[in-house]
Amino acid sequence: MFTTRLMKEVIFPEDFIFGAGGAGHQIEGNNIHSQFHEWETTRDCFPVRAGKACNCWEMYQEDIELFKRLGWQIYRMSIEWSRIEPEQGVYDFSALKRYLDMLERLNNAGIKVSLTCHHWSHPLWFEKLGGFGKRENIKYFLRHLDFLVPKIKDYVFQWNVLNEITNHGTNPKSFDLMKNLTVAHALGYHTIQKYSNAPVSTTHALVHWQPYRSYDEFDRIAAKTLDWATNGYFIHAIETGELVLPYTEAEFVPELKGALDYWAINYYTRHMASGRTENLTTHRFEFDRVSMVNGDSYHEEFYPDAFVQHLPRFKNKPVWICENGVSADDDRFRILYLARHFAALKEAMELGVDLRGYIHWSAMDNYEWGNYFPRFGLIEVDRETFERRPKPSSSFYKEIIEAHGITDAIRKKWLEPLCDWQTYNFPIKKGS
Ligand code: BGC
Repeated sequence: MFTTRLMKEVIFPEDFIFGAGGAGHQIEGNNIHSQFHEWETTRDCFPVRAGKACNCWEMYQEDIELFKRLGWQIYRMSIEWSRIEPEQGVYDFSALKRYLDMLERLNNAGIKVSLTCHHWSHPLWFEKLGGFGKRENIKYFLRHLDFLVPKIKDYVFQWNVLNEITNHGTNPKSFDLMKNLTVAHALGYHTIQKYSNAPVSTTHALVHWQPYRSYDEFDRIAAKTLDWATNGYFIHAIETGELVLPYTEAEFVPELKGALDYWAINYYTRHMASGRTENLTTHRFEFDRVSMVNGDSYHEEFYPDAFVQHLPRFKNKPVWICENGVSADDDRFRILYLARHFAALKEAMELGVDLRGYIHWSAMDNYEWGNYFPRFGLIEVDRETFERRPKPSSSFYKEIIEAHGITDAIRKKWLEPLCDWQTYNFPIKKGS
């Protein structure tokens, strides 16, 4: 079992930046012109609708005040394309005005903005045209960027064109979508650059693929294949402009080569690879599972080691952690998770990774694409009243921000009391 008793101080450079994030559809509420709003009524995989989500569309002013009080220096957010252009070619200027007010208030509060232009949700009309499934539809997204970016550019510290383009499955159909999204990233990158000097990226969903049986050649091949389809593919695409994925023709996209100013890494935990299953994945080691939420969730394990094992692959540009967090009902898990992941990040920096900042996922307990039970937030949100209640982990995080890391005093105060806490092998409670 892991113990924080032996943990050393973890101090980041003075100019290292800390914050937290969210995404439009997951927090704003009533995002009724998006394809997700439609899917939530028609698809079984969305048993619960987003509804009013965290009601941030109405409460953003007090939210920003709270973020400031919690000491955050950067906030990652997305702008909902479906609010700006609810019908094709029809613009909602009042929605734009509200976003501009949000951005201005964040800037005035001294909070930098990490802006994601597309965090999975988009207008229903775009989806009906085939969405990013059709390469020729990218032009609508670029038109949206041409409309939006010049209006908001002065408020944005860093851009993410898209969110996690390799997180769409590992089958030939998803590979076609991934390729289109990669092209959309490249063209989006150049569109944003026409107006803004701020660095541009697209968040990358880093996954550590663990061969279920390390001695087994087939599991190792499965892990390598999945590592390529999720991690290697994107790194190679940016380095060379080449799109190389199994079962599809390779392509060269000249606009893609070098089209990224920093690596925006989202990381949660490792996944298991097996050479003996149809999709090459398998369940986690039972003995190492942590039951942190009352229901099924893929976050059943801490695996901070992946930062040390993989971040050196992203050495050639500045690196930002744009998502990292844990869905846990018991906030003590979040405190431990933060401590362990910061320790791993520090070790990755010692290996030469140019890490500039950390954006925790998530700011508040929000809509988790079909459900509300996975709670990632530093802030709890009452589902009836929408009252915000910062969790103890947000105070722990604030102290870390103020001290630029985990000092011995912080460790003693927050981590010592958790030393003998049994974190592993909780009974798995499912359902209710
Ligand atoms: C997504 C978030 C999501 C988080 C936790 C990430 O892949 O970008 O929107 O809430 O995972 O599942």
